[in-house]
Amino acid sequence: MHIPALHTLIEQSIRGLQTNDYTPAQIASALGNALGLDTQLVADQTYFIAEPADQPGALAGCGGWSFRKTLFGSDHGPGRTGEIVDPTSDAAKIRAIFIHPDFARRGLGTLILSHCEVAATHAGFRRFEMGSTLTGIPLYRRRGYRDVDLVDIPLPNGEVLPILHMEKFSTGAE
Ligand SMILES: CC(C)(COP(=O)(O)OP(=O)(O)OC[C@H]1O[C@@H](n2cnc3c(N)ncnc32)[C@H](O)[C@@H]1OP(=O)(O)O)[C@@H](O)C(=O)NCCC(=O)NCCS
Repeated sequence: MHIPALHTLIEQSIRGLQTNDYTPAQIASALGNALGLDTQLVADQTYFIAEPADQPGALAGCGGWSFRKTLFGSDHGPGRTGEIVDPTSDAAKIRAIFIHPDFARRGLGTLILSHCEVAATHAGFRRFEMGSTLTGIPLYRRRGYRDVDLVDIPLPNGEVLPILHMEKFSTGAE
């Protein structure tokens, strides 16, 4: 039911907060492809929204986690698969955290990330990973994630979108 509003929020977040990290051409081509909403997470009930207490119905941010293999991307992203991973040997994926520019740097990204780590831990996972945008790196490093490798994601316009594969082992205190 929140799907159109989520698409709007995600586009506002990308256009408002990623301009220091990616070019307008990269952003235009990545939107709805490498970057965007994966409705599988909504269907799996592992995607969350943050609403401002004083503005019921407005969206301040969103983000989720997944027990599926897909590391990043929208419904139309590259390498999407519905395959379910084994929590005893594989990592939960932290997915698509997007904060509205009006609510950036207020701890909301941290709050949603922590919420996802707790939920994934309750589902049995002991390791978390993500394909982070360049914009997300400072937040994730601060939350204990380490760099795995930088990956250039091919975009429909022929350019690439660099994202950083990052991971973290659960401390059990999420
Ligand atoms: C990345 C993002 C989710 C961070 O959300 P946020 O709510 O602003 O993050 P927080 O307020 O929880 O930040 C926690 C800490 O992370 C670091 N951090 C977050 N954003 C930062 C930035 N733009 N530059 C430098 N450090 C940053 C800081 O250490 C910050 O603490 P501080 O504000 O006390 O200095 C947000 O910028 C965003 O939505 N970006 C666009 C979409 C995107 O790229 N999402 C990541 C997908 S993997």
